[in-house]
Amino acid sequence: MCGIVGYVGDEECASLLVDGLRKLEYRGYDSAGVAVMGKNGLHVVRAKGKLKNLENKLVGEMPQGTIGIGHTRWATHGKPSDENAHPHKYGGVAVVHNGIIENHLELKEELQKAGHKFTSETDTEIFAHLIQNEIEKGLDLPKAVRAALKLVRGTYALAVISEKQPDMLVVSKNASPLVLGIGEGANYVASDVPAILAHTRDVVYLEEGDFAVITKKGIELTGANGQARKAEVRRIDWTPTMAEKNGHKHFMHKEIHEQARALTDTIRGRASVEEGDVFLDGCHLDAKIVQGISKIQIVACGTSWHASLTGKLMIETIAKIPVEVDLASEFRYREPLVDKNTLCIAVSQSGETADTLGSFREAKARGARGLAICNVVGSAIAREADDVLYTHAGPEIGVASTKAFTTQLAAFFLLAVRLGRLRGTLSADVARNHLENLRELPGLVERTLKYEDVIKAAAYKFSGARDLLFLGRGPQYPVALEGALKLKEISYIHAEGYAAGEMKHGPIALIDENMPVMVLAVRDSATEAGVNYEKILGNLQEVKARGGRVIAIHSEGDTMVPKLAEVSIPCPQTNPLLMPILSVIPTQLFSYHVADHRGTDVDQPRNLAKSVTVE
Ligand code: AGP
Repeated sequence: MCGIVGYVGDEECASLLVDGLRKLEYRGYDSAGVAVMGKNGLHVVRAKGKLKNLENKLVGEMPQGTIGIGHTRWATHGKPSDENAHPHKYGGVAVVHNGIIENHLELKEELQKAGHKFTSETDTEIFAHLIQNEIEKGLDLPKAVRAALKLVRGTYALAVISEKQPDMLVVSKNASPLVLGIGEGANYVASDVPAILAHTRDVVYLEEGDFAVITKKGIELTGANGQARKAEVRRIDWTPTMAEKNGHKHFMHKEIHEQARALTDTIRGRASVEEGDVFLDGCHLDAKIVQGISKIQIVACGTSWHASLTGKLMIETIAKIPVEVDLASEFRYREPLVDKNTLCIAVSQSGETADTLGSFREAKARGARGLAICNVVGSAIAREADDVLYTHAGPEIGVASTKAFTTQLAAFFLLAVRLGRLRGTLSADVARNHLENLRELPGLVERTLKYEDVIKAAAYKFSGARDLLFLGRGPQYPVALEGALKLKEISYIHAEGYAAGEMKHGPIALIDENMPVMVLAVRDSATEAGVNYEKILGNLQEVKARGGRVIAIHSEGDTMVPKLAEVSIPCPQTNPLLMPILSVIPTQLFSYHVADHRGTDVDQPRNLAKSVTVE
C-alpha cells in the first residue's frame, strides 16, 4: 500500500501535499516525495525514510506552484531510497503510483533498447517513460496516459502531471484505491479520505477502470468503457481519525478486514494455475539448488513462529523436504545442526526482529542458504537473505499481527508448491488444484468475515473470563497457539493454545465450569471429515463432560459440532493446508471483540512493541 495525494487550484500546494501525506503515513513510510508544477517546469523533491525527512529537505527548497502530486511509499519493488522514492520524473512528466505492474521489466527492456535511461529499481518509473514517449509522438496528456495504460499489466492508482499541459492532473484506478475531493476552485485526489478531509467532505470514490482529467474548474470522468460517467459525489461525515482507520474503530479491526486484499496482493503474479507452477520474484531457487537441500530450518518469533509451524506442514506434505521449526530465541543458543545443505527460512513481518535476525545470521554463518519471508521491503532480514519472498500485506499498524500471519501462510504455500515442482515431488495437475484453492481463498476470507456478528456475541459472552484454552489438531494446532496469543496480548486474559490430543496428559485438570475452551473443530477437508475431526470431537466431549464451556469453530453445514458446543461459529471449507487461513479469522475477531469490550488499548497493548528489535 502507498499513499498518493494531488492538488490543482490557486493555492501554493507543496505544504498542502505534505499535510495530506502525513494523514496517509499509515499506508507506507519507506520514503516520500512531491512534484510541483512551477514557472520553470516540474520541481521534484524526494527523501528516503519517514515524512519528516522530506519536510526537512523542503525547508531548504520549497517548490512554488499551484498544481502538484505527492507520495508516501510502501516498497514492493526496489529498496527504500531517494532514487526509488516517488514521484518519478522523465522528460516533462511526473507520476505517483500505488500498485504492482507485473510486466514492468519487459517494458523497461524495450524502452532501454530505445535509449531510455532509468534511474530507479521500481516498477512505477515505467509510467513516466511510457507517457513521455506518447507525448513525444504528439498525443496530449490524457491520450498519452491512456496509451500507456494499455501497455501495462497490473494494478494501479496513478496520478500524472506534465509540463506539456500544466493546468491538469490525470488519474486512473485499477484495483488500488483512489478518491477525488471536490473543492471550491480547487480539486484534490488521494488514496484515501483522510488526506482530503481538511479541505472538503465532498468526495468521489473512483471505480475500477475509471479515468479522470482534473483541473481547478472541474473533473472529466470516464468509466472503464471509455464513456463519460457522471461523478457520484458523497458527503463524508467521519472525523479525520476515523477516516485514517477507514471507519474502523481500530487499525487491528481494519487489518483483519483487509486480509482478502492482502492475500490477493501476495498471490498476484505468482500462482499460475494454467502452468501448474509458481513464480517467485526475488527467489533464485532452481532445481539444482533445491535438489541439494537436505533439510529446511525455519527460525521465527511469536505469530511468525506459529505461521512457521503451518509452513512446516505445507512444505513436508507438498515438497517432501524435512523441516525443523525453532523459536529464534532458542535456536541461536543451542548447537544447531545446520550446514551448506540446509535452507534456513527466517519469517518476520517487520524483518527487524533481533532474535530472528541473529538466528538467521548464525545459520548462514554455518553455511546455510538464507530465504526471508518478510513484509517490509529492504528490512534487515530481507537485506541479508539470498532469496526473499515478500508478503504484500501492506503496513501492519496494529501490534497484534493478523494480515501478516495469513499472508505468511499464503507465502509458505506458494513456496511449498514451487519446491515440490522443482524437486519433482508435485505433479503439475496436483499443483493446479492447490493453486486453484489458493486463488479462491480471498473470496472465502470475505465469507468468513461475514460471521463477525456471531463471533462478537460469543466474545461479549466470554469477555469476563479469567482464563481460556484454545484446542486444535493437525493444521489447526498452530491456529490454537495463534488464537491464544491474540487473546492474551490484547485482552490480557490468560490464554493457552494446546494440541487437543495433549489434554489428557495434564491440561484437562484445568477444566471446570469457569474454563471456556475454544475448539477448532473444522473438518479435515471438503470431501471427508477426517481423523483430526473425529478425534477433536472426542476432545470436545471430554471437555464438556467436565463442565468446560465450549466455543467451537466448525465447518459450514456441520450439524454435529453445534449440538455439542455452547457457542458455535461456522467457517467455510477449503484445502486442509489452507484451512488455517480461514479458521484463524474467527479467533482474530473473537480476541479483538473481547479486548474491545474490556476496553484495553487494542492497537497498542501494554508492555508490547510492534517490532522487537532488542533481544
Ligand atoms: C504477534 O501478534 C506479536 N505482535 C508478536 O508475537 C510478533 O509476531 C513477533 O514479535 C514477531 O514479529 P516479526 O514477525 O516482525 O518478526
